[in-house]
Formats: sequence, C-alpha cells, structure tokens
Amino acid sequence: MKILAIETSCDETAVSILKAEGDISDPRFSSLADVTLSQTEIHSQYGGVFPSLAKREHAKNIVPLLEKTLKEVEVTSQDKTGSQLNISKNELTELFTHEDGLAENIYNFLKKTPIPEIDAIAVTYGPGLEPALWVGINTAKALSKAWNKPVLAVNHLEGHIASTLFNKAQNKENSPLPELPALALIISGGHTELINIKKWGEYQFLGGTVDDAVGEAFDKVARMLDLPYPGGPPLSKLAAKSRKDNKENPFVFPRPMKHSDDLNFSFSGLKTAVLYKIKEKGNITEEEKAFIARAFEDAVADVLGSKMKKAIEASNSRSVLVCGGVSANKYLRESFKEVEQETGKKLFIPDAYLSTDNACMIAVAGFVVQQTRKEDVLDVKEAKHLKAKGVIKLGDHN
Ligand code: KG4
Ligand code: ZN
Repeated sequence: MKILAIETSCDETAVSILKAEGDISDPRFSSLADVTLSQTEIHSQYGGVFPSLAKREHAKNIVPLLEKTLKEVEVTSQDKTGSQLNISKNELTELFTHEDGLAENIYNFLKKTPIPEIDAIAVTYGPGLEPALWVGINTAKALSKAWNKPVLAVNHLEGHIASTLFNKAQNKENSPLPELPALALIISGGHTELINIKKWGEYQFLGGTVDDAVGEAFDKVARMLDLPYPGGPPLSKLAAKSRKDNKENPFVFPRPMKHSDDLNFSFSGLKTAVLYKIKEKGNITEEEKAFIARAFEDAVADVLGSKMKKAIEASNSRSVLVCGGVSANKYLRESFKEVEQETGKKLFIPDAYLSTDNACMIAVAGFVVQQTRKEDVLDVKEAKHLKAKGVIKLGDHN
C-alpha cells in the first residue's frame, strides 16, 4: 500500500509518501518522497517553539510541501480534476476557520492536482502543540474527503518508535526486525519514556520523566551556555570537542534518580546543577563551556543507560529501540551500543535524519495502525471527528 503522511505536531512541517509491502510480521518499506521543513530558525529568537507562530508556518508551508512530494513520485493514475472532487469550497472554508488563507490554497491545490494513487493518509493527531496539530489534521480531513481515502490516526510517539522499523527499508532485505517484547526508549524535546512493546500496536508505559524531558534539558543547558536553539546539536558538538582535547574534566554533575527503584527519570535537578555551577564560576571560558557540555552529556548517558538496563530486566525485553530527536546524538548512540554489548539485546536506532521529527516515521506508524488497530483507521465520515490531542499517552485511543 501507499501512504501519504503529514506531521505538524511541533516546529517541523513534514510530508512523505511511503510504499509499504508485506505485513506487520515482515514489512518492507520504501520511501517514495520525504520532505521536512524545519522552522527552528524562526523560533530560535524566542529560545523555544512559539505555538501560534508554528501554526502560521505550517499553514503557509503545507501545500507547497504536498505539491513537492507529489511531484517527486509517480503516484498519479486517474486524471480527475477539481470539478470531480468530493469537497466544495464552502466545506473547505468551514474546515479551515482558524487557518487564514489555507482553505483557498487547498482548494487551488486540489483543483489542479490529479487524484494520487495512494491508499491512505496518515496524520499525527497528538501529542504536540494543539494549534500546530490542527493544521495537519484539517489538511488530512480535506484530502480524505476530496480524494475519498481513509485517514490513519497516528500518535506522534508511535511515530518515533516506528522510525526504528524503517531500518528494514529498501535494499536492506536481510535486516532483522526487532524481536518482541522490545523495550523502546523515547528521548525527544517533549518526552522521555520507557515503553514495553508487547506486540506492534500494543504498548505498556514503564516509566518516564517526572519533570523535564531530556531534549528539554539539552535545550535549557545549551541556552545557559549561550548556544542557539535547538540546543542539542551545538551542545553535543562542544562536548565532542572537549572529549577530543582529552583533558581531565574538572566538572561532574549529579545523576538524578539513577538508583531509584522505579523506571522514572528526572532531569530538572541536573539542569539546575549546571546552572549553579555556571553561576558559581561567574565568567566561564570557552574551554570550561565545553567541559560543562561534556559533563552534562556524560550524566545523561549514564542515567539513560542504567535505566535502560533496569527496564530490559524488568520486562524481559528481547531487543531495544531508541528513538526521538535526542537519539540523533552521536555520543549517546555510542553509549547505547555499550548497553547492547552488556545486555546482548540487539539495538535498533533510526538513521539520525529519522530521529528528529519527520513524516516518514508517521507513514510507517500509519502502516502499524493499518495492520494492528482498526479503530484508528478512519473512513471519510469518521475522519471528520478526529481531534487534536495536546497530551495523549501511547496506547490511549481516540
Ligand atoms: O523528536 P524531536 O525532533 O521533537 C519532539 O518530538 O520533541 O526532538 C527535538 C529535540 C530537541 O530538544 C533537540 O535539542 C534534541 O531533540 N536534539 C538533540 C540532538 N538533535 C536534536 N539532542 C542532543 N543531541 C543531538 N544531536
Ligand atoms: Zn518528536
């Protein structure tokens, strides 16, 4: 089947078209088109994502991205034009009441675009920034109605988890699938969660952060070090430089909750410890900044690794998946390999470009939904009622 996927939960507008073959026990994926437009430059002046700005940018970019994606692939068979579409201009105006100008843009897009030969439209409905989510959801509703295609309602976190399945992509015929039950560690800007994947589509929450998400901690510490938003990449660059210099690090930061009995995390204390250290020092040199970045990353790697090992034991995991924006971090990726070696549980991490938000992972998760959870496969009428969910747990349904 071919899935067109839309992701607008935060500050990346993304559209992809994925070909999925086989079934959930032996899927094969090939990406036909995958485009992501990041808004980070726009938000960096605010030091974080500004929801109404994110929404405005998604509304501005979604149609050009749809056009670009459809142009990249041959998925068009029936030469129908707007006059035969199942949606009127009035319906579009009613749908896009909060997205200025989008009704008109979508109408013009639909009018000139032949109906593509796709089987479903996958869209992220949560968790995320609600105003931002609505842009993707309403666009999916419009396309669903106009083209008479079902909508696959995707939880963003399931998207991150599904990104690890994409390793079994084209030209990688022999790449194995994760054995189940598998442990998934999601580390992103908004989430730090350990999940037991019992079966595809069936998830058990094992533990999560009690305060800041790990990506959030990266971003906040980076800000303390005068690094731009998002802070993860520049902070990790600094830390790598310090490791390369190979001098003894005068800084050591605490490992909050490392030894707690549960599978929860806390990163707020670590962030505060960095803040106090910077305040105590007053002026810090470039070398000290790099030491701090490195000591922070060491503490994160240590806590994540030890909780992963604990969770593997607690849930008898047979393999381990790590995903979410922070899993793009090179040093952490190396540290996860050490967990793999110590535990003997095979590690799956998506290629770094699929760690941060993208629509390819939403399409793969759409396939998981189509294969395992019929209640999240919405026909045109059901799709009309799909709502954005700012906060939603993995495993909770509409
Ligand atoms: O998954 P993602 O793109 O968006 C959310 O769903 O939150 O994750 C974004 C987060 C940001 O906090 C960003 O700083 C962090 O991922 N990140 C990194 C790296 N690349 C992105 N953190 C550490 N090292 C990186 N290389
Ligand atoms: Zn994400």
